[in-house]
Amino acid sequence: MQIVPTVAATQHAVRAARAAGRTVGVVPTMGALHAGHESLIRAARAECGFAVVTLFVNPTQFGPAEDLSKYPRTFEADADLCRRHNVDLLFAPTVEEMYPPLPGAASASSLTRVEVERLSEPLCGAFRPGHFRGVAGVVAKLFNITLPDVAYFGQKDAQQCAVIRRMVADLNFPVTIRVMPTVREPDGLAMSSRNKYLGPQERQNALCLYRALSRAREMFRQGQRRADDVLAEMNRIVSGTPGTKIDYIAAVHPQTLEPVTSLAEGTLLALAVRVGPARLIDNLVLE
Ligand code: PAF
Repeated sequence: MQIVPTVAATQHAVRAARAAGRTVGVVPTMGALHAGHESLIRAARAECGFAVVTLFVNPTQFGPAEDLSKYPRTFEADADLCRRHNVDLLFAPTVEEMYPPLPGAASASSLTRVEVERLSEPLCGAFRPGHFRGVAGVVAKLFNITLPDVAYFGQKDAQQCAVIRRMVADLNFPVTIRVMPTVREPDGLAMSSRNKYLGPQERQNALCLYRALSRAREMFRQGQRRADDVLAEMNRIVSGTPGTKIDYIAAVHPQTLEPVTSLAEGTLLALAVRVGPARLIDNLVLE
């Protein structure tokens, strides 16, 4: 596996792979890789001739009061995991490589914004202003750097997936977006790099997200179609769990992310809850 810190060398390696007739799959990550990322890497490895993982903790998607400096950084373990999965190229740039400072300026910067309007505003967007602008901007750059045929993302980040799909459609990126199912711990907790922030009791309390989603799915299967009733029950489950603070619990259309009043197959139930120091998200598509 090549570990490549520069944009130019990555583009060169990917172009060579393409010239040799290999399809390119990319898994964009911020590192602290876990079983959720592994499922994306496995899919890229199985489906593409040249598998690329990007590892970059992107500062532009963190708000001023967010956890950028504390975000887990486990480079050696991440590189080992990629090697075990036979990844061809790990792109691991510095902040300056991704956002070169303007002439005369000391710090990294970007003057170009990629704003996916409407889809970036509700749900997490309402609590993390500018977050999806940062995500769309860096993913657009990563696509131009790694030139993928297919890019892999996790369903846990449902809003991120909707934003990226729309950006790809609006800007005609020649890339297929594959969204892989959420990977869960045996007790249902969705895998997340932020689970590392949880102490043992908080880890236990964090199960309320999955409990609320499971109860919602059960109500839907029993014939309940009123979104308000299901959301009220989810609210009851989460707010009844000590040490939690709800950012939102919502039932929305999976592509427009607009709220629905009546549940149907395909409706996205999504929630974000603060549990101790961690802000956790989870979701489920009703079927
Ligand atoms: O999902 C993530 O880890 C990040 O938002 C991404 C897509 C790698 C962009 O920094």
